[in-house]
Amino acid sequence: MTALTLSTSSAATLRADAVVVGVAKGAKGVVVAPGAEAVDKAFGGKLAAVLETLGASGAEGEVTKLPAADGLKAPVVLAVGLGETPAKGDGFGHEALRRAAGSAARALTGSKKAGFALPVEDAEAAAAVGEGALLGAYTYAPNRNGASNGKGKKNDAKSAPLGEVALLGGKPRDKEFQAAAARSETLAAEINRARDLINLPPNDLDPKTFAAEAQTAAKEFGLKVEVLDEKALKKGGYGGLMGVGQGSQSPPRLVRIAYTHPKADKTLALVGKGITYDSGGISLKPAGHNETMKCDMSGAAAVFAAVVAAARLGLAVNVTGWLALAENMPSGSATRPGDVLTMYSGKTVEVLNTDAEGRLVLADALTRASEESPDAIVDVATLTGAMVLALGHRTFGIMANDDAFRTSVHEIAEEVGEQSWPMPMPSELRKGMDSPVADLANMGERMGGGLVAGLFLKEFVGEDIPWAHLDIAGPAFHEGAPWGYTPKGGTGSAVRTLVRLAERTAAGDLG
Ligand code: BES
Ligand code: MN
Ligand code: ZN
Repeated sequence: MTALTLSTSSAATLRADAVVVGVAKGAKGVVVAPGAEAVDKAFGGKLAAVLETLGASGAEGEVTKLPAADGLKAPVVLAVGLGETPAKGDGFGHEALRRAAGSAARALTGSKKAGFALPVEDAEAAAAVGEGALLGAYTYAPNRNGASNGKGKKNDAKSAPLGEVALLGGKPRDKEFQAAAARSETLAAEINRARDLINLPPNDLDPKTFAAEAQTAAKEFGLKVEVLDEKALKKGGYGGLMGVGQGSQSPPRLVRIAYTHPKADKTLALVGKGITYDSGGISLKPAGHNETMKCDMSGAAAVFAAVVAAARLGLAVNVTGWLALAENMPSGSATRPGDVLTMYSGKTVEVLNTDAEGRLVLADALTRASEESPDAIVDVATLTGAMVLALGHRTFGIMANDDAFRTSVHEIAEEVGEQSWPMPMPSELRKGMDSPVADLANMGERMGGGLVAGLFLKEFVGEDIPWAHLDIAGPAFHEGAPWGYTPKGGTGSAVRTLVRLAERTAAGDLG
């Protein structure tokens, strides 16, 4: 991965391929952001004027490259737009910094080293720049330089991710800055781990290989891991996981991956939907709706990455991850619409639509997670198309059985720069899932489908445990052109929220 360093050099003396500066929209045109003073000086104080001549406006994500002036060691200056100038006395928002750093890092693909001279007032701003740059520099593993299989796709040095991000203007000898940079590096590495898993084609990642990934990481980072295979799942009565997985040649798995800290007095349980491919099953998805369904394990990838991040950061909280892994395929052994499954909780579910499979695998994992009486449970899932219709492609929905907990999760997401919105779980939608042959059906009213799914899950969560459900169907997988620090493909949605939630729990800020 791209390296992150805190540099003691100035933007003028740093030896690098490029130096990145920030520009913003001012009342009278382009304004050069703090941090770029040395660069501006080399341009005789006329950097803003030069950039305007080149057509720069300071708009968010805008990238302008220009040859460096005499007196700068780096041959290229890259000006990146930060958007509107903040009000007097306010610094640039962390998310604006993250996005700008991401856009710059992306535009520097193929370069070895770049200095980032963006406005970093404090350690948190430096962390945002570091995080944005490392996330923006991401390229899917097989496309990284040297990783080619020698056939198919050619990878040359030009397509290699930016090699090193040197943060300028911070306080490299300050403990707070060092800790912030180290945290960004770990967090970005784990988000990129989730992205790699999501981007893997579904013929390379099935429940078994996903579980093996968890075992390998557990060994590396000292985590406890248990894998229930199809035999254990059948014996244990995991009717939801078995019912969804039984149509596939690649049988299901339930992975428990746990990080414990000797001084922890709180335990957070994270549950992830891990459908390695969602064809819809017998209720087969039509063409046009199944091409990106390898992304249906994004929740499990986020949970996995967050548990490893908590361990690498040494947080004083126990974090247990539950990965509900299955492949949803149609076949002669697949669950039929009309079948009744007996879930791990003992409840029976009439499967009316085999494409509503996520709630079935999550239900078993939520019941199992509840048995350990954690202090809170958060599940993450690409659960419903309805949530994408409601909130679009960049915002995840948050539902919960506890209003205060839902508010906390929403605030935490906002703080780390993940767009989310609280959603209700109106109790009148429950009756739509009434079944004449089972305790409930896996489908209800079409209207409010995301909320119906939330209500279904709620039935499988332990009574007194605060629980939140993040439906990341919109933001998990990005099909458009890259922007800011968001690449095409897997995004790593929810990892930052989960990690900050663990940090807050460790600090005793929650419940
Ligand atoms: N994995 C899909 C949801 C999804 C849609 C994820 C778009 C990412 C992007 C889920 O399993 C699904 O198929 N849900 C159905 C539920 C319905 C049958 C009740 C849906 O949303 O249509
Ligand atoms: Mn589905
Ligand atoms: Zn699905």
